[in-house]
Amino acid sequence: MPQRILPALVMITGFALMGCGEPPREAEHRDADTGRWYTVDQVMQGGPVYAEHCAACHGARAEGAEEWFRRLPDGRWRPPPLNGTAHTWHHPLWQLRQHIREGSDPQHGNMPAFEDVLTPSEIDAVIAWFQSHWPNEIYQAWLVYDANTPEP
Ligand code: HEC
Repeated sequence: MPQRILPALVMITGFALMGCGEPPREAEHRDADTGRWYTVDQVMQGGPVYAEHCAACHGARAEGAEEWFRRLPDGRWRPPPLNGTAHTWHHPLWQLRQHIREGSDPQHGNMPAFEDVLTPSEIDAVIAWFQSHWPNEIYQAWLVYDANTPEP
């Protein structure tokens, strides 16, 4: 083998291996029907979960509480919209899951923890449901956020 080719081969192999080592981010997955990380079935499963466990606080269509942007007299926040009009897209997928599992930090709000109430797949379904309300430009901005905010 000519000596000049060997270093090039080593480099190419190295890059290929690096590519294999990193699992693709879940949020990057493109479902054939939705074009997003979740499936239509997940959205369908998430609707009733949302109605039962989240709608009382976040609103039937995830529009948030009235005056959600004003703090309560005790300094805590009201339930914000989850429909893409507020800042929920500033949370990567792992943080959305964590927030639903663990609920509010008691100084920030009164959201209960759902880790003993919902299964991980129900939590994913409810995220799929509220994200299905997000317009595409919000979803795209969220993907960038998700890529830049890896789980610690
Ligand atoms: C008792 C009222 C209550 C219920 C029930 C509730 N939440 Fe919340 N939620 C809140 C409040 C208040 C906040 C804002 C304070 C905070 O960030 O913890 C919040 C924040 C959030 C956030 C962070 C949003 C952001 O933009 O930062 C997500 C995501 C969320 N809730 C999802 C859900 C889901 C999904 C459910 C149902 C499984 C649910 N919540 C049920 C009150 C509630």
